Amino acid sequence: DDLNGRDKKSNQFAEQKAWEDQQIGKATLKFGSKNKRRKCDEEYDFVFEDQIEFVKASVLLEGDQMIANGNVDVGKVQPSHQLDKLREERKTLPIYAFRERLLQDVEKNQVLIIVGETGSGKTTQIPQYLHEAGYTKGGKKIGCTQPRRIAAMSVAARVSQEMGVKLGHAVGYSIRFEDCTSEKTVLKYMTDGMLLREFLVEPDLASYSVVMVDEAHERTLSTDVLLGLLKDIARYRPDLKLIISSATLDAEKFSDFFDSAKILRIPGRRYPVDIHYMEAPQADYLDAAIVAALQIHVTQPPGDILVFLTGQEEIETAEEIFKHRTRGLGTKISELIICPIYANLPTELQAKIFEPTPEGARKVVLATNIAETSLTIDGIKYVIDPGFSKMKSYNPRSGMESLQVTPISKASSMQRAGRAGRTGHGKCFRLYTSYNYDSDLDDTTVPEVQRTNLANVVLTLKSLGIHDLVNFEFMDPPPCEALLKALELLFALGALNKVGELTKVGRRMAEFPVDPMLSKMIVASDKYKCSDEVISIAAMLSTGSSIFYRPKDKQVHADTARLRFHSGNVGDHIALLKVYNEWKEANYSTQWCYENYIQVRSMKRARDIRDQLERLLERVEIKLSSSNDLEAIKKAVTSGFFPHCARLQKNGSYRTIKHPHTAHIHPSSGIMALEHHVLPRCVLYHELVLTTKEYMRQVTEIKPEWLVEIAPHYYQLNGVVDEDYSTSKKMPRGKGRASTSKQIPNLVDYSICV
Ligand code: CDP
Ligand code: MG
Repeated sequence: DDLNGRDKKSNQFAEQKAWEDQQIGKATLKFGSKNKRRKCDEEYDFVFEDQIEFVKASVLLEGDQMIANGNVDVGKVQPSHQLDKLREERKTLPIYAFRERLLQDVEKNQVLIIVGETGSGKTTQIPQYLHEAGYTKGGKKIGCTQPRRIAAMSVAARVSQEMGVKLGHAVGYSIRFEDCTSEKTVLKYMTDGMLLREFLVEPDLASYSVVMVDEAHERTLSTDVLLGLLKDIARYRPDLKLIISSATLDAEKFSDFFDSAKILRIPGRRYPVDIHYMEAPQADYLDAAIVAALQIHVTQPPGDILVFLTGQEEIETAEEIFKHRTRGLGTKISELIICPIYANLPTELQAKIFEPTPEGARKVVLATNIAETSLTIDGIKYVIDPGFSKMKSYNPRSGMESLQVTPISKASSMQRAGRAGRTGHGKCFRLYTSYNYDSDLDDTTVPEVQRTNLANVVLTLKSLGIHDLVNFEFMDPPPCEALLKALELLFALGALNKVGELTKVGRRMAEFPVDPMLSKMIVASDKYKCSDEVISIAAMLSTGSSIFYRPKDKQVHADTARLRFHSGNVGDHIALLKVYNEWKEANYSTQWCYENYIQVRSMKRARDIRDQLERLLERVEIKLSSSNDLEAIKKAVTSGFFPHCARLQKNGSYRTIKHPHTAHIHPSSGIMALEHHVLPRCVLYHELVLTTKEYMRQVTEIKPEWLVEIAPHYYQLNGVVDEDYSTSKKMPRGKGRASTSKQIPNLVDYSICV
């Protein structure tokens, strides 16, 4: 087998040659000299019909003189067991040479900004150094926040290995709905959102000696709020040390925010990365990414491939296509190991991406932008960057939030390319043109605080007693409109009173680590005596992954199985409840899930979430009560989700009631699955998603009267005609028609008391 058998030397030679070829002008993915290249073509053309041609444009990173600097020679230590090996590995990380300086800087400064290339050892090493230096004496903890769950988990696992302790003991992690820490935990990795919630129980974070806000450049909403809160408590906790770490060069901005805090730069170990662009834009980036990966596989020297995709579904599709295209090729190509990685990937599968690639094989990591800076995967030599990621966007005027596939920023694309140059000279293939890069990509990503619904954060801040939101110190303040929108929603939900103070309902809502509409639904279930059912629904809605399993080759069976839960046209919320209850009756059986085309993993997660919600119910003194009355359950759901209601239009589409907007019932809804389905007149939805159209997901029919009964301050029966509602005049004004009320408190007055 030519590709496998090739020895290293000729690889290096050929690589060099190809690189020189590329310097001359047009580069293709063909590997080796011209003759060899032709041979490759003949041999491997069958792998794919289309070939992609790239144009090499630039060298991203010049060979870095720091390579030697960061390298610590560990000599010829022959470790006797795993722990020694890990100990030696730690010493080879670029940050190791800076250990003493770092400790000195932390001692002398209350706030320290650390900048270092991904993989230099910031996340895994800094907390350990501080622990070794005595910062955990007297039972104090070192906290390290991560924007992503999966990073918090995998890094904690790695650090516990390095320290030779069991995960959850001295080293632990805490993510929403999962606490893997104990009394003994001194190094605590957690999501930024979890530390934010810790402020609610410990407003001065007294149990922490150091807080490290890691991946601060990601600028997630929770990170931004944390930065403001930490800056505030640092004033009256001089013993608390803050470390802000970032993988990019925007350190000055963080430094300015923390009153010219000291910056420590850890030089990375970087090798040059060649950037290749497409000659022409691609219509289908997923297909192009797969073709490019296969081309690399059959034509390029060893080295793993990292492909950036936008989400779980896309990654799963790509995985299938890869398998399909390489099927039957047998030994004609060397082994290709496909490793998906995305936020909801089950823990047991996560380890796979960190396992070394076996000799002769090649790994293709299919990742979301989680692999941009959060996770370091060793051995990556080729990066394929389609130029997109899924981004949240929010329209404060309509209150509409959506996840959309959006072009990434230049800063992101640089980070992505950088992933190819960690262990040697790498290549990055951008599936867009250099013109696209220059003219279409923004320089940096807009911080989340400026493009998201703020209701959750506002509720948290209010619970922390921070009343003056306008003057809260944000690095980049959110749009005023979005703040007002959040206040308006919280008022409508009854979490705030007219002067913007937290109510008893709001206080209870804040205990639940879910969005305000969901927590309101839970709190309201008390009134309808169905908290048992409502927390099951809430848990099922919070798994973050789909409940129903619909394999391509068994769609008919899967659909039939699903329809059973929808009998009686009960709506998606009740269907989810039925699934949960039946699974529970079947003793949480895995077999039951297989038989009913239900995703076992989602169900297990739902069960964990439900357990937690049940404990929280107790904390806010809501009794667990069960009811068979579907109408009562739906009313409890409506109590939280009344702002998410839509009415049927003559043309079969829906129009949201509050802020008129056209939407459709998502094809995956049970309502659409029923034969001879009749579109309900008035529906409530869990969320809107924008794909080809604006779709409502998780939909349940409600009676319009409920809106007036449950939210009279928000909707009025046959009330004033809302000019906003352009089609209202054409709608039949029958009994039970709800229209938006104008009796929402005057926002101008309201904003004064913010
Ligand atoms: O935070 P930073 O990007 O600077 O680096 P890190 O995450 O501390 O990673 C340092 C090293 O630890 C990397 O070279 C990874 O190979 C290794 N690591 C690992 O093997 N498994 C993990 N789950 C995390 C890191
Ligand atoms: Mg890191």
